[in-house]
Amino acid sequence: MTEPAKVETAAAAPVMSVRGLRVTFPAGDTGQTVKALDGVDFEVFKGETLGIIGESGSGKTTLGRALVGLARPTDGRILHDGIDMSGLGGARFRAARRDYQIIFQDPNAALNPRMTVLDSIVEPAAIAGIGDARSRRGDALDMLKRVGLSPELARRYPHQFSGGQKQRINIARALMLRPKVIVCDEVVAALDVSVRGNVLNLFAELQRDFDLTYVFITHDISVVSHISDRIAVTYLGRFMELAPAEDLIERPLHPYTRALLSAEPVPLPSAMRTHRRIALKGEIPSPLSPPSGCRFRTRCPAAGERCAAEAPAWREIKAGHWAACHFSTAEGPPAFADA
Ligand SMILES: Nc1ncnc2c1ncn2[C@@H]1O[C@H](COP(=O)(O)OP(=O)(O)OP(=O)(O)O)[C@@H](O)[C@H]1O
Ligand code: SF4
Ligand SMILES: [Mg+2]
Repeated sequence: MTEPAKVETAAAAPVMSVRGLRVTFPAGDTGQTVKALDGVDFEVFKGETLGIIGESGSGKTTLGRALVGLARPTDGRILHDGIDMSGLGGARFRAARRDYQIIFQDPNAALNPRMTVLDSIVEPAAIAGIGDARSRRGDALDMLKRVGLSPELARRYPHQFSGGQKQRINIARALMLRPKVIVCDEVVAALDVSVRGNVLNLFAELQRDFDLTYVFITHDISVVSHISDRIAVTYLGRFMELAPAEDLIERPLHPYTRALLSAEPVPLPSAMRTHRRIALKGEIPSPLSPPSGCRFRTRCPAAGERCAAEAPAWREIKAGHWAACHFSTAEGPPAFADA
């Protein structure tokens, strides 16, 4: 397998390299295993926003947690700037982990309701022993301003803020550690539609100002197409496709991506829509026993005999454009009867 081409929008150095990543969980006391991530390979390049899109249960959150060291690989490796953090001892692991932060969908998840927002923003830096109490407080007040909130609100408690404001506080909290990478897991999904755009714009501004790399997880194609340089499409613990955003949305090479794009109810600019609607039939199979061969085959309108027998290779079909389908070519996904 060749290395992925570097994206033009990002500097060349990969900040994270993911190789054969598997994360499994025991399924209660059934003796079975949930294959949340079942072999993914990709890089994240410095300064880019890599969007991750996929249906519920496809492994997006597990991937985000693994990327920041919160979920342990069952198999495979994640290299952060060339280093495998799982090989580091306690203190060195915690220090390295600071460079990789995650913000979750629930704006309340990381905020202690009994702490003022100032204390919440200061907390990660205090735990990490960065600066002294006075410098941390000054930095936190600056950060509050930087995310668009008045420092006069610093003594208030989380319940006195809206969801959008709380997400801004979470961003300030993550930035206190000056991370290299922030994984954003559905960070605008719980917000009122009217404030989503503003929060996404804030993420874009902060990326420039703080030289950040984002992994932006969402199930909303309009969000991911708005913010991403490249987009990866997940299905049942694997990547189906990965490409520069415009390429993936305008010229998808995998049947699943094509189906997802045509099923998307949120209005997309007409140039971003595929010509025909393709219904995504049926439920996602259980990650306890994914289908043999290609795991999308039970819902794929182009599935043939080979698809049940053989798992498709993860191939770079065009420069920087990867897909896992036996029949995808640089011209597009395989043709099928109702397309
Ligand atoms: N701690 C856990 N223990 C057992 N199973 C888990 C655990 N975490 C995730 N899973 C399972 O792993 C699979 C992938 O879950 P994950 O949360 O990563 O999906 P997701 O793509 O983020 O879904 P969503 O869009 O609903 O957030 C699911 O089947 C889920 O039930
Ligand atoms: S490998 Fe077969 S089942 Fe899988 S996406 Fe391609 S055509 Fe469909
Ligand atoms: Mg999730």
